[in-house]
Amino acid sequence: MKINFTINGKGRAKEIKASTLLIDLIRDGLKLKGTKPGCFEGECGACTVLVDGHAINSCLYLAVNVAGKSITTIEGLGGEDQFLDIVQEKLIEHGGVQCGFCTSGMAMSIKSYSDKCKEEGKVPNRNEVAKSLEGNLCRCTGYVKIVDAAISVCGN
Ligand code: FES
Ligand code: FES
Repeated sequence: MKINFTINGKGRAKEIKASTLLIDLIRDGLKLKGTKPGCFEGECGACTVLVDGHAINSCLYLAVNVAGKSITTIEGLGGEDQFLDIVQEKLIEHGGVQCGFCTSGMAMSIKSYSDKCKEEGKVPNRNEVAKSLEGNLCRCTGYVKIVDAAISVCGN
């Protein structure tokens, strides 16, 4: 079947199978390799992307469900000008990146949560920020620096 969608601000049309996973559409169909394949069980968060602004695990999400919707991957986080988004800047500034395998998923989750907080006019505390990242695993950093980065994105 053919679906139309927007990815990183650009309209696309793609022929897919009903069983195609969103991560496969992104990585193989569109050659955007920044979204990482990890557990394929919804446990690690490495595959996190935004669909209409909501963070989802693309390994569990059927591509057919993005028809008519807007996807943002790590490649589109900084917008068309190709500059780094504040989320990426803060992850670097706080030393929240080591091997980098979790980083694109972490960045997308931080982006989704910080945008939601801004919409609601909320400045979350450290526990709330850490809880928002529970779906993203990191084997390197011990999380403290990632949470520090996320807190500074959220306005603390
Ligand atoms: S690869 Fe999707 S949650 Fe791990
Ligand atoms: S930086 Fe290596 S898994 Fe997070």
